[in-house]
Amino acid sequence: MKININENYKNLKESYLFSETARRIREYSAKNPDKKVIKLSIGDVTLPLTKSVISAMHEAVDEMADKDTFRGYAPEYGYDFLREAVANYYSTFGVTVAPDEIFCSDGAKSDVGNITDIFGDNEILIPDPVYPVYMDSNIMNGRKITLIKASEENGFLPMPDGIAEKPYIIYICSPNNPTGAVYSREQLKIWVDFALKSGSLIIFDSAYEAYIKEDYPRSIFEIEGSRECCIEICSLSKTAGFTGTRCAWTVVPQELSAGDTKIAKLWARRQATKFNGIPYVVQKGALAAISPEGHKEAMECVDYYMGNAKIIAELLDRKGIWYTGGINSPYIWLKCPNGMGSWEFFDWLLENAQIAGTPGAGFGEAGEGFFRLTSFGSREATLEAIERLEKLL
Ligand code: MLT
Repeated sequence: MKININENYKNLKESYLFSETARRIREYSAKNPDKKVIKLSIGDVTLPLTKSVISAMHEAVDEMADKDTFRGYAPEYGYDFLREAVANYYSTFGVTVAPDEIFCSDGAKSDVGNITDIFGDNEILIPDPVYPVYMDSNIMNGRKITLIKASEENGFLPMPDGIAEKPYIIYICSPNNPTGAVYSREQLKIWVDFALKSGSLIIFDSAYEAYIKEDYPRSIFEIEGSRECCIEICSLSKTAGFTGTRCAWTVVPQELSAGDTKIAKLWARRQATKFNGIPYVVQKGALAAISPEGHKEAMECVDYYMGNAKIIAELLDRKGIWYTGGINSPYIWLKCPNGMGSWEFFDWLLENAQIAGTPGAGFGEAGEGFFRLTSFGSREATLEAIERLEKLL
């Protein structure tokens, strides 16, 4: 063929981080079929969907089986019942967003990647280490990316100190993936003020908001001024076990505009053209997941995972290993022992304890020397991992 390809793809790493770790785990298991690998690597849930969700989805399947209640294409931004329920969910923690500012989709990862479509050639400000999708989707578009270094010194919560005041698209994830660190209200206010002053946009990823146990903001829209400079992307993947079921949303406030163009209008146009909505059955499941009863059940799952996090954190405390996360986040970000590099520790742990985590360096250069463990495993697997680590570290 003589077609031109998107040359920017050549600037990406050879493979996506989680595909690479999965490949190494498969390779190890193929060579060592008698060894049981415990995966605390990708942040994928292990508990099944809850009772409320399952019964709502069963009912929806029955509706789809009857010609009087069957439904075809779903509305591109979600059925009104779901958009209203999401708005209502926000109100339970004191945030006001209107249903028509909520755009439902099949995942936060998709929205994070797709939203780049509606912006021009802006400079991108990304914390390092970072969820790889922010970085990769901007590399794919050939954007100029500036990294802000997170480190042990700033508790892996970088601030805009010393950053030139010009318009950027800024990515913030809190509670953070991969580090589990959480921004306080005061810190997020500084970011919002910086965005307002510099004419920037913040894309705020709140996928882990349900894990906040202490007094931290669960939405960027808790912060004054945020409606003029922020978009929020949230998901039911980690909140209600929807990693395989797929339902998320993006909140675009009506106030948000660049010049005289409303950002909500652009996003609506993009979605209407390229997205055909989430299946009715899934939307019914999502509705149940954020209903008062469904949310209570979901929080029992969150508590179960946080019990795992506590078990991991206690081991690290006993061993005197530095870490962040694990209190308001399902991720634990630890400093590799004995000065090991991230991938070195990954191989060492796999080889000696058959435990798989995610190397910090895979999330960016500033992640070198760190390692991420998730609390999404089963309790049994987590306890077995701790037993192995207790002997090894
Ligand atoms: C992770 O392990 O970081 C997450 O599972 C990735 C994701 O949510 O896409």
